[in-house]
Amino acid sequence: MAFVKQAMIAVTAAVIFALVYGEGVDPNCLGCLCEASSQCNATTACHTPYPGAYFCGPFLISWAYWADADKPIIAGDNPEHKGAFERCVQDLYCGAETVRRYMAKFLKDCDGDGANKCIDVVRTHKFGRGDCARTIQQEDRFWSQYQECASRLSL
Ligand SMILES: *[C@@H]1O[C@H](CO)[C@@H](O)[C@H](O)[C@H]1NC(C)=O
Repeated sequence: MAFVKQAMIAVTAAVIFALVYGEGVDPNCLGCLCEASSQCNATTACHTPYPGAYFCGPFLISWAYWADADKPIIAGDNPEHKGAFERCVQDLYCGAETVRRYMAKFLKDCDGDGANKCIDVVRTHKFGRGDCARTIQQEDRFWSQYQECASRLSL
């Protein structure tokens, strides 16, 4: 049952992302990234898992990542207004747009297999633009969630 529910979340997220963002990152990949980050919980609150870290929204985006993505905003907002970061990344669409813009600028072949695939998107998301070839910590739930989703959707 939990599996069915999760699969439905992923499919729903993928459909939403496909409708809104036809280009750039594969919608199924965005769906799995969302699931791995937060089970794609659209109401994921901002939290500080360790000092100096501050992650918000269903994709667990930091302020620096959002700024690197050129500060996308929800309609009618101003990127320089307080709370614009939280309002954007806590919104499923604006959060996905932040990922898409970040990848448009920084995605590369992290694992060196000659192609930019979903794993490269996920590595770039998790490790940032600087060091995306880093060794994956298999015990991190993020990766097992991603792998489960990726195999389910044949990514
Ligand atoms: C989603 O996240 C919110 C806030 O962190 C939490 O209260 C809620 O229980 C979560 N929902 C699910 C389905 O996990």
